[in-house]
Amino acid sequence: MSQLRAVINLDVAGPTVSRHLYGHFAEHLGTCIYGGIWVGEDSSIPNVRGIRTDIVEALRGIAIPNLRWPGGCFADEYHWRDGIGPREDRPSMVNTHWGNVVEDNSFGTHEFMDLCEQLGTEPYISGNVGSGTVREMAEWVEYLTRGGEAPMSALRRENGRAEPWRVKYWGIGNETWGCGGNMRGDYFADLARQYSTYCRNHDGNVLYKIASGARSDDYAWTQSLMQTMGDYGCGCNPKHYFDAVSFHFYTGLTNRKHGSAIDFGTDEYLESLANAWRVESMIKRHSNVMDVYDPEGRIGLVLDEWGTWWAVEPGTNPRFLYQQNALRDALIAGLHFDAFHRNAERLVMANIAQTVNVLQAMLLTADDVLIKTPTYHVFEMNQDHHDAARLDVHLLDAVPTAQDNDDRSVPLITTTATTKDGHALISLTNLDPDADHTVTYDLRGGAPSDLSARILQADSPQAHNTREAPDTVAPAAYDGTALSGNTLTVTIPAHSFVTVRFVTGRTQPSESEDQR
Ligand code: AHR
Repeated sequence: MSQLRAVINLDVAGPTVSRHLYGHFAEHLGTCIYGGIWVGEDSSIPNVRGIRTDIVEALRGIAIPNLRWPGGCFADEYHWRDGIGPREDRPSMVNTHWGNVVEDNSFGTHEFMDLCEQLGTEPYISGNVGSGTVREMAEWVEYLTRGGEAPMSALRRENGRAEPWRVKYWGIGNETWGCGGNMRGDYFADLARQYSTYCRNHDGNVLYKIASGARSDDYAWTQSLMQTMGDYGCGCNPKHYFDAVSFHFYTGLTNRKHGSAIDFGTDEYLESLANAWRVESMIKRHSNVMDVYDPEGRIGLVLDEWGTWWAVEPGTNPRFLYQQNALRDALIAGLHFDAFHRNAERLVMANIAQTVNVLQAMLLTADDVLIKTPTYHVFEMNQDHHDAARLDVHLLDAVPTAQDNDDRSVPLITTTATTKDGHALISLTNLDPDADHTVTYDLRGGAPSDLSARILQADSPQAHNTREAPDTVAPAAYDGTALSGNTLTVTIPAHSFVTVRFVTGRTQPSESEDQR
């Protein structure tokens, strides 16, 4: 067991940790939409206008701030006009990327916007660049957001929705280096400018346009996008063709092997953690490239696909990407969130892939049963970080590490903190497969009190929830903390995630927090 010392200045608030770092992603892939979120109005499973009630209730429990849709790779094959009007008249298509299944378009624009309204979340729509036209994208924006007598507003009204919706987040393509068109960076950068130009702000609806970004550590892609913002030669760069650039990063095993989600040994466990940790250096290095072209930080970085990618559950369709979710996934989520908090200056949004039944899901469905995964619980336990001000955690001692099979050093403890409404929330993840560790925080600049703590733990990193045992990994109250004056000591058991909440009793407001 190691004993780490840390200092937190409760009266020195950092940047806001946007709630959008806790965003989500639902694609027409496997049983995420069909059979997951959407069961149809005639289903025996309780639903509201075809949308599964228990899923809405569960997702409301983690206050999801935004939902990205319809893809993913599917987005660049999706033609929105096929998904409006009476369902029986909608044309079908083949979802070539995800199992060659026939998509009947019964879940379209109106159903998605209904889902967002039921969830109380903001839509993030991913527009088709790969196989769509500029006009098609421009008209989708108009259909969604314009009032009055314009042609697309009239069509929307015909389909039963009088008032325009508010849509802020708009994606220009998806993985345009791959499934979204196999383009080169400089070519797509020009397309992003072109498509963005015609995505207009209608009737006071202001779009926040996110250009499809790099795969993992392809910094040259980010450079292509950022460079294209700044060729006006008028000293007014960056020109806002788009407001953010994205990138995607998945955690698997090295060399694109996808090991089992629940059947793994310590070697694989450490290897996956070493890979997951790469996310922090990627955020920093994409940000560094952006700093060159946009030193004022006006363009956001968006990680709009992240999460674990394991082998599919035995016996399931290999293109449906249905995987189990173990305590390891929860710890990897904890690691990601800490990396997001530490880089909140540039990282403005992140979307885990995906919400239901696909990859690192929050929820798994089995007929009429709904299972909350360990990852779901990390989102729930971290909720107080939404829109809170970061409190930097200064570690005075080196964190313990382990070596993976490639001799990479894996940090085993990560911790971050934020403050909001007179409270602070500290998150700690102990990735150590075997040992407990202790962190002692010197909480300066306040008079901490009213402390409570929760823990997510189980017998092993392989532990997971099933239909028969849905609460094998579930949060519980935790008493492994001690507060004495300004000294908080937290013992964090092997492979566990802990949150500690307390009243800061901050002695003096810091300027940055008051200006939030
Ligand atoms: O999330 C699954 C797929 O991963 C998405 O469709 C694609 O964008 C990425 O490659």
